[in-house]
Amino acid sequence: MSITSTTRTTYAAEMAHVTKSYGNVVVLEDLSYSFPSNEIVLVEGESGSGKSTLLRLLQGIEVPDYGNISLLGHPIPPSRSKHYGHLLRQVGIVFQDPLLDNNLTVTENATAIARINGRWNEDKVDDLDLLSFIFHAFEIERFADQPVHQLSGGQKLRVALARALMSHPRWLLLDEPTHMVDPAGKVGIYKQLKGLLDETNLGGVIVSHDLEARVVANKIVTIESGRIV
Ligand SMILES: Nc1ncnc2c1ncn2[C@@H]1O[C@H](COP(=O)(O)OP(=O)(O)O)[C@@H](O)[C@H]1O
Ligand SMILES: [Mg+2]
Repeated sequence: MSITSTTRTTYAAEMAHVTKSYGNVVVLEDLSYSFPSNEIVLVEGESGSGKSTLLRLLQGIEVPDYGNISLLGHPIPPSRSKHYGHLLRQVGIVFQDPLLDNNLTVTENATAIARINGRWNEDKVDDLDLLSFIFHAFEIERFADQPVHQLSGGQKLRVALARALMSHPRWLLLDEPTHMVDPAGKVGIYKQLKGLLDETNLGGVIVSHDLEARVVANKIVTIESGRIV
């Protein structure tokens, strides 16, 4: 059973001399950083320091004014191209808002992206095993057949994380995932996530100023004055 797809590159993403401004506000300036494929990098930084901008650039939702970004060994293609969709489907993404379909069950939500990726077959033992392994780790098995609108914020976040992991990602991008979760909930979620990540070689970026997130990090960096330090 494997959560990850094989990653062939040393760096999951490389940013070289990236500058990004909104109007005359320079958010990121001459930022260079290479994200190792198999490490979780926790990005900290004050509110407004450019953390979300960094993640939007890594997702190709925003384009840098200057500089280059590669993702999973490729320059990020234009967001309307089919190559873009193919590349981004290999990245597990969770944002502040878990973006679940409230009318669908926990299982349907958790398998939604894997289904699109052709990585979910409910008749396949390996797929079912992976789902129950992830549900067990997040302690959400008992909700499997419930519609997600019956769940708490922390449980919804676990479903969103499960959905990302079920898609067999090569890399993760998480932006303030525990923003709406109470402190005790944060501890539990990051502990469970760490347990799952310890079973894999999966790397990624987690943006958070929650100290609880540090438990999952292989590296902790800060965005300051437009750069990663
Ligand atoms: N779409 C946008 N248009 C104009 N300004 C933006 C936009 N997105 C972000 N900003 C500005 O860029 C700066 C960094 O924002 P952001 O990346 O969201 O920071 P963080 O996630 O670290 O709180 C802030 O000053 C914010 O107001
Ligand atoms: Mg942000």
